[in-house]
Amino acid sequence: MTEITEKQRLLDLRRKRVFLGGGEKQIEKQHKAGKLTARERLNLLLDEGSFVELDQFVTNRCSDFGMDKSEVPGEGVVTGYGTIDGRLVFVFSQDFTALGGSLGEMHAKKICKVMDLALQSGAPFIGMNDSGGARIQEGVDALNGYGEIFKRNSLASGVIPQYSLILGPCAGGAVYSPALTDFVFMVKGTSNMFITGPQVIKSVTGEEVSPEVLGGAETHGCLSGVTHFYADSEEECFAQFKELFHYLPQNNLEDPPRIACDDPIGRCSDELSEIIPCNANKPYEVRDILNLVLDHGKFFEVHANYATNIVVGYGRLNGRTVGIIANQPKMLAGCLDINASDKAARFVRFCNAFNIPLLTLVDTPGYLPGVKQEHDGIIRHGAKLLFAYSEASVPKITLILRKAYGGAYVAMCSRSLGADMTLAWPTAEVAVMGPEGAVNIIFRKQIAAAPDPQAMRSSKVEEYCAKVANPYVAAARGYVDRVIDPRETRPALIQALEALPDKREGRPAKKNGNIPL
Ligand code: HXC
Repeated sequence: MTEITEKQRLLDLRRKRVFLGGGEKQIEKQHKAGKLTARERLNLLLDEGSFVELDQFVTNRCSDFGMDKSEVPGEGVVTGYGTIDGRLVFVFSQDFTALGGSLGEMHAKKICKVMDLALQSGAPFIGMNDSGGARIQEGVDALNGYGEIFKRNSLASGVIPQYSLILGPCAGGAVYSPALTDFVFMVKGTSNMFITGPQVIKSVTGEEVSPEVLGGAETHGCLSGVTHFYADSEEECFAQFKELFHYLPQNNLEDPPRIACDDPIGRCSDELSEIIPCNANKPYEVRDILNLVLDHGKFFEVHANYATNIVVGYGRLNGRTVGIIANQPKMLAGCLDINASDKAARFVRFCNAFNIPLLTLVDTPGYLPGVKQEHDGIIRHGAKLLFAYSEASVPKITLILRKAYGGAYVAMCSRSLGADMTLAWPTAEVAVMGPEGAVNIIFRKQIAAAPDPQAMRSSKVEEYCAKVANPYVAAARGYVDRVIDPRETRPALIQALEALPDKREGRPAKKNGNIPL
């Protein structure tokens, strides 16, 4: 190697200063708080040596509050691009060691630049958030920066997948950028998200609450549904992210990555015959079915701890990614409620935007009854699911396992909402409502007048089941395409999927639909 020039040495010095972020002391503080630094995170996330940094030497233009005398290396955020398993991604990683990773005008500009590049090149965008929010010294310029980011998040939605990894504080309006992205990840104990923090809440409402309880990973993973995934450590968080990433395409013009499948496509499972209990009121674990049917029994769940009466996630059938939506009879009997409708509708819309076929497993007695549900807007929220399925033009395969009653039957990707292939197990019951409820309404007078009302009710229930609560009435009308032996579910689903490889379905041109929000 030739000797370096003075100018090269100066470049090296400048780089080193930026690499140190807020300095050794701040880095130590960051580690003590159980967090990695912005650059350590990039090293873990991206393929080794693939990261190319942009805007390393950007500085702010603020001179208020002594800002002209202080240095904020890299403006508190590291931005650039790299690869994950060889696939291009654009990324920012906020540097909490540099003025708390706070977002000012130039910090926002750095982020916007990589967002624009991601959108233009059709590559996913990943944000790693660890910030005290709007840089107070920069006032309205900081607020404007957030607005620029929100606008880009919204315009990129449905074009490139956007992922947010919350790895520290994320407070105030700052939470809305992650909220606008497709998937949010959090880490227990170190990350939190809230619009107003514990102190403000105490002064306004008198409530006392810790940051973790107010907006920690479990709160958002189980109660609010703001985060789709949470982990015990940053390393685990990156592993979760990468698993999800493998199922999804780079942009809306691509199909999801297809991998070679060495799990036999004709594999049948006797265990599938034993999953549904004889008693129709008994619950079972719907994931047991997925584990027997998908390639290598692998189901990657999204939103695993939120609205657990519906299960959503990804798996593969003959190497092709499918988005799965399944009622969970183990929770609330698989009823659809407000949160389940929101969760499933958002999932369906993401899949549709990114060319991921939908597989819907149905076992639901209906929408959840209750005054609270009605007053909280089950009509409005429940309608989102109808809207999302009707709007979706990707291949849609529906498998009715057991109960498919009433409006929930329609909502769970019925033929009328556009299912391309509807399969049913022989245990399927497609009806306006369950036998007991139906009999109490349509035979009320006969039951009341009978010498033995109980016996009369039982015989009417039997009659109703024989006539209506089975898959054959729906099959006779062509609403169900195939009644299949449960053991043959995997080959049947793969056949259905393979029949729709290049499905194209038009929609009327419009600016946007008006999904009930
Ligand atoms: C400027 C900030 C800052 C901010 C932190 N710092 N937040 N500087 N603007 N918003 C600086 C601190 O002064 C400190 O600098 C360094 O970052 C580290 O912060 P600490 O407070 O020492 O760290 P810690 O004890 O871990 O507490 C972290 C924190 C706290 C909980 C995030 O800093 C905090 O409450 N910050 C303010 C959060 C906030 O209210 N932000 C505005 C939200 S509203 P020194 O030099 O001492 O090391 C918002 C509006 C967006 O973001 C609107 C969009 C539409």
